[in-house]
Amino acid sequence: MSSTPAVDPTLDPAVDPVVGLGSDPARATDWWRDAVIYQVYPRSFADGDGDGIGDLPGITARLPYLADLGVDAVWLSPFYTSPMADAGYDVADYRDVDPLFGTLADADALVARAHDLGLRVVVDLVPNHTSDEHVWFRAALAAGPGSPERARYLFRDGRGADGEEPPNDWRSVFGGPAWTRVSEADGRPGQWYLHLFDTRQPDLDWSHDEVREEFLSVLRFWLDRGVDGFRVDVANALVKAEGLPDWDEKLALLSGATEEGELPPMWDQEEVHDVYRTWRAVLDSYEPAGSRMMVAEAWVDPPERLARYVRADEMHQAFNFTFLGARWEPAALRAAVDRSVAANAVVGAPTTWVLSNHDVVRHATRLGTDDPGAHVGLGIGPRDPQPDAELGLHRARAASALMLALPGSAYLYQGEELGLPDHTTLPDDVRQDPTWFRHEGTVAGRDGCRVPIPWVADAPAYGFSPTGRSWLPQPPAYGDLAADRQTGVDGSTLELYRRALRLRRELRLGEGDHTWDDTLGADVLALRRRTPLGEVLVVTNFGDAPVDLPAGVRPLLSTAPGPHPERSPSPVPSDVTVWALVE
Ligand code: GLC
Repeated sequence: MSSTPAVDPTLDPAVDPVVGLGSDPARATDWWRDAVIYQVYPRSFADGDGDGIGDLPGITARLPYLADLGVDAVWLSPFYTSPMADAGYDVADYRDVDPLFGTLADADALVARAHDLGLRVVVDLVPNHTSDEHVWFRAALAAGPGSPERARYLFRDGRGADGEEPPNDWRSVFGGPAWTRVSEADGRPGQWYLHLFDTRQPDLDWSHDEVREEFLSVLRFWLDRGVDGFRVDVANALVKAEGLPDWDEKLALLSGATEEGELPPMWDQEEVHDVYRTWRAVLDSYEPAGSRMMVAEAWVDPPERLARYVRADEMHQAFNFTFLGARWEPAALRAAVDRSVAANAVVGAPTTWVLSNHDVVRHATRLGTDDPGAHVGLGIGPRDPQPDAELGLHRARAASALMLALPGSAYLYQGEELGLPDHTTLPDDVRQDPTWFRHEGTVAGRDGCRVPIPWVADAPAYGFSPTGRSWLPQPPAYGDLAADRQTGVDGSTLELYRRALRLRRELRLGEGDHTWDDTLGADVLALRRRTPLGEVLVVTNFGDAPVDLPAGVRPLLSTAPGPHPERSPSPVPSDVTVWALVE
């Protein structure tokens, strides 16, 4: 755990009794159980060299901002060598840095600076597929059918008289078929290869020993460079069912078993757990044992199946996408919390909360729509109904404060601490997400949540790059939300997050368990948490009418607009979360 940050000048010790209490002393192991981990999307965080694309030196220069924000760790989306067909989730060399982002020396410098600041570093690992420019895939194309080179991927002959039909009916997550046919050395149409995502992301065959060995070696490569953990991309996809059978059902990322209990043949196969057991052994071999972690990006439902990824000898965490996709309703959120906490308790794992990331519409935008769950992964474009930005931000602040009061770990996505919305009116000609292209422009895709961060309101590209270049245009609304406009401003979203993170650390809200208080009515979620300072009551009001806090509580934090709203207690307005100390 990083050291306690300097006392926040916006906190008044007379009103904020927790100032100076101090948090848990540095914990070398198990730090991830209650950590707040900040996702950096490198191409959009901070551009050091002015080419309009964020880079590692840009991130390193901004690390003090993250330490000051009060997070425990940083997760970096991929920065490896890549042709960028899927923004770096198509890796051509797992052991090097793409020149767009810098060099290996820049990565080392980033890790060293983060550690100096008390921040841990988690890197992304993309094991399901490589880039089509990976040396293995090039060799596979050159070597031809039946070769050992092709055996590392999922090449198959096509169906039909001349093999002109794909080997099965699977669809790509990004739209279109999941198979592409190659031309063989003689120029004739040949075999097909599987890609659950883009054509340029061929799936590896995880039954192959060389594939398994290679990733053990990649893990060691980054662990030897000092990283503290890995976020594992589509961790539920690596192993496919024997024989690659057809799957008539829709191929959705979050598709659990059918009502008859049948599992999709491309997701969540039993043998995938063997892979993570071998990885866990590698992580645990680094000193001190238990200090390195893995978090699964596994779109697995229901929570009981997801919990299988965090059994004691597998991963440490798995993102809770059920919580992320829940409607803005007390019953839905409460059910998502209870079911996941209960499922994880069976295997002894904490829960891992998240509301935004680089694949989903940001929660400040999602919660300004009628059906937040509908926008996960598909984006919102200029031809779609536009969200209510004010309502979205208001609810997002309440949702974040609710999340940060729950026991377990929490992930933040860059810019959510500024209350950033998605760019929902990006012009078609700047879009880059393969989802947009593979759906032939019928689905906006994920570019809207990947727009570069505004640091300085009055600078070109809002301070994202020294030249004012920006790989995606930023919406005008980003000016007022720039970090410099919010720093030190009472009631700003940035100061709200800083305060919440500081209180969370000092009250140790990430530890322990929760109980619900049903006495405040059906429109309210009210949590009671035991803390070193006594009981804390967390109230989120989903109703239209304000709700009175019980007598004898002192508000510590409120997401209501305006300066220091916690100083004007009760009642709790609509769509607001309050944390209060029970005295
Ligand atoms: C994960 C990543 C996403 C990527 C996909 C394929 O879902 O988060 O950005 O496109 O995997 O690698």
